[in-house]
Amino acid sequence: MKILMVCLGNICRSPMAEGIMRDLIEKNRLSWQVDSCGTGDWHVGEAPDRRAQRTTQSFGIDISDLRARQFSITDFDLFDRIFVMDQSNYKNVLRMARNNNDKEKVDLLLNISIPGQNCEVADPWYDESLFIPVFKQIEDACNEIIKIQVGARN
Ligand code: 4NP
Repeated sequence: MKILMVCLGNICRSPMAEGIMRDLIEKNRLSWQVDSCGTGDWHVGEAPDRRAQRTTQSFGIDISDLRARQFSITDFDLFDRIFVMDQSNYKNVLRMARNNNDKEKVDLLLNISIPGQNCEVADPWYDESLFIPVFKQIEDACNEIIKIQVGARN
């Protein structure tokens, strides 16, 4: 299973999602891959936002090694599932889809933990108080991804 987490800047939400997923993959000894990227290019090459790093670190997850990159059309070939944080990311990624197979890989991350509601992971960039709630929302969804997949295997 190859999972791509996508947000706008790839410095707050999606690197947190990558770090949380990477931690769960290691803990569950799965041979999965996870990566993250942004639909925008403003922060390419940057480490995650300090507040995002501090938040994940407070839960024992180090994301300081991650560097921002922009979503590319080849990501449709490289990943099995593409999880986006909000509707704007969803539209931007779907706009680049070449066919139905590409489109079917894409879903809002929170549709995994809160099915059918199209809930968004709020952007904590402008509101620092959102970092912890965002971490917990992402963590719930990532736990659910593991549960669904590992359950299906057994
Ligand atoms: P992210 O947050 O999409 O969760 O990484 C943002 C980071 C930067 C900006 C917007 C959102 N920005 O406008 O630079």
